[in-house]
Amino acid sequence: MSEPETTVQTTVYVCTVCRAKDDPEVRPGQALLEAFDARLSPEDRAIVAAEPVECLGVCSRPCTVAMAARGKWTYVLGDFDSVDHVDDLVESARRYSASENGLVPKKDRPDAMRKGVVSRTPPGPFAR
Ligand code: FES
Repeated sequence: MSEPETTVQTTVYVCTVCRAKDDPEVRPGQALLEAFDARLSPEDRAIVAAEPVECLGVCSRPCTVAMAARGKWTYVLGDFDSVDHVDDLVESARRYSASENGLVPKKDRPDAMRKGVVSRTPPGPFAR
């Protein structure tokens, strides 16, 4: 019997090696990743996956996150607090997933997403 086809569309990459601004001994990304994953509903899990990543090149803005999906723009986001912004990250992933091309209008972004945008990159030609 074959495995059911996955419907996951969005991957949320969380950097797990960023150092906290106020304490370089602390790496808050793992806590954010675990809290985010725990907060996803079964419906969310059908379309969103969380993955750890080592460095997104935005080391001065922990916690850093990227959202990507085939054929969509990719966002790199920074300054996510591992406790206070978990709900905003979940809602950001939902709105990103619901968007047609990955672009979430500024007025529709949760606060942490609106303030945390580092960059957005168009879908690669291989993914259209
Ligand atoms: S170590 Fe996290 S973005 Fe570089």
